[in-house]
Amino acid sequence: MCGIVGFVGNENCTDILVEALKRLEYRGYDSAGIAVFENEKIKTVKAKGKINDGLVQKLGTVGKPDGCCGIAHTRWATHGEPSDVNSHPLGNERVSIVHNGIIENYREIKAFLQSKGYTFESETDTETVAKLLDYYFKGDPIEAIISTMNEIRGAYALGILFRDCPDKIFAIRKESPLIIGKGENCNFIASDMTAILDYTREYYLLEQNEIAVISSDEIEFSDIHRMSIEKELKIADWDAEAAKKGGYEHFMLKEIHEQPEVVGKTISARIKDGLPSLEECGVTDEMLCSYKNIYIVGCGSAMHAGIVGKYVIEDIARTPVIVDIASEFRYRNPLVTADDLVIIISQSGETADTLEALKYAKRVGADTLAVVNVVGSSIAREANRVMYTLAGPEISVCSTKAYAVQIALMYVIAFRLAYAKKTITEDECRKLTQELLTVPENIQKCIDNTEIYQYVASNLVNAESLLYIGRGLDYALSMEGSLKLKEISYIHSESYAAGELKHGTISLISDGVPVIAVATQRNLFEKTQSNVKEVKSRGAKVVMVCHEETEVDKTCVDFKIGLPTISDLLMPLITVVPLQLIAYYTSVLRGNDVDMPRNLAKSVTVE
Ligand code: F6R
Repeated sequence: MCGIVGFVGNENCTDILVEALKRLEYRGYDSAGIAVFENEKIKTVKAKGKINDGLVQKLGTVGKPDGCCGIAHTRWATHGEPSDVNSHPLGNERVSIVHNGIIENYREIKAFLQSKGYTFESETDTETVAKLLDYYFKGDPIEAIISTMNEIRGAYALGILFRDCPDKIFAIRKESPLIIGKGENCNFIASDMTAILDYTREYYLLEQNEIAVISSDEIEFSDIHRMSIEKELKIADWDAEAAKKGGYEHFMLKEIHEQPEVVGKTISARIKDGLPSLEECGVTDEMLCSYKNIYIVGCGSAMHAGIVGKYVIEDIARTPVIVDIASEFRYRNPLVTADDLVIIISQSGETADTLEALKYAKRVGADTLAVVNVVGSSIAREANRVMYTLAGPEISVCSTKAYAVQIALMYVIAFRLAYAKKTITEDECRKLTQELLTVPENIQKCIDNTEIYQYVASNLVNAESLLYIGRGLDYALSMEGSLKLKEISYIHSESYAAGELKHGTISLISDGVPVIAVATQRNLFEKTQSNVKEVKSRGAKVVMVCHEETEVDKTCVDFKIGLPTISDLLMPLITVVPLQLIAYYTSVLRGNDVDMPRNLAKSVTVE
């Protein structure tokens, strides 16, 4: 949430910053701005709106700052509406900052600074930090930073320019992530690696309460006591192309098309001698047998992946699984104990509620396993164990490939657990594992069926509201289908257990209301089809997603989407594709910004 980038080198940095900001735009797109040293002054240009509509236009009008050191920001508003004046960088002619996070005690600081004669232009918490830095700056930037860090409470990643320290960027962080990129004759700060992949893959991870001072040829780290710190230089294994559209109209479409490859990679890296293996994260069969309960915690799509995990684990491994929304888990006093395993799922590895849920689980002594996509992210580092999903950078705000690899790992974990507990035989486990390896080619077959999804989307485009229904794993999956659709098409949608409709929700059905029935679980098919008949007879327009070979009653189904046949247990891995593509094409037909849906941003680093 909010993107920060900074550059210091030997060339004009405005275009570099603007291009890097575009790569970070998925983290927030309410407004954007840059501040650059120009002739020993800090020149700031900022504008409301997306980068191309706001900042780029404004730079065309007021002119591009001419300098080799600057900071930049793309914002997802928390304090203060999106506006030019609330955009970052914020500060005054002496200090300018970009900020990701929330300062909890900004009101007290503001009152204190007002009593010292400071005035404020914006409604943001960030401006108070900039002015506090200015207040404490008496010639020594580190002293001012330390004094400020001692005063502010909350989460922050900050990039700071002091007019009196030209061509240097200062950076600090607490809770919110920040990396320091090491380039050739230039260095960077960034919220994440995607911003700077065109220049470098080498980076340092800034840890909590560390201070970095960055110039074109030097990066120095110290702690809050001014003790210098040696840090390990890391190399990102993502390449620049992975973070670009590569000829696709949208990142979301590209990421859906990447699923066969990334699901294949994520699964096969965990298969040893034909059996699933959790060796990499140090979970032995003995440990698996000892866990009393498994909690799976995450937000949004990550939590939905956990629900699929619950159905599969409970079905084949017979261990109780409790799935929790991270923001509920952390505050509801859950019954989790030191006998339990808590699986934390997160694409970004930075989601604030998920990170706090993880810390809670650790405090009560539970074993914790993070299923995370971003290497070195806060959740990956905080958990006792980590399994990385190998999706590569996910840029579209609407998660697709990250969800697919998360559920893929749920199967790997479930199979190993069932094997360890002997709730399935070795032979059964080998067969399931073998079949798991055929999933990528079946995902591809689903992707290739584009026309039918476009056709279904053209029938949904004017709907005001719709329902997804299913039973068992189909219900688990339809939650994700419904979220995808509402998130990017802005059509209201809910997912319901098909058998629950009669208990209230069926009253929403009237003439022409679309219902997407997910019916891939053949043992439940007749039951779901009966529910479909009930909605059809009340006027619903029904799309049924099922096995190609399933014979449907044509009197109650308007469109059938037939899928390749694999075991019902594995069907969510491929059934997700039509649900993603229906959402995608509906959004496109409605003329929405697919990759940057309104009000949202990727990587939710605030509560
Ligand atoms: C939906 C979506 C969100 C995220 C959620 C958790 O398409 O992307 O629901 O799944 O914000 O994010 P991570 O996985 O980064 O913790």
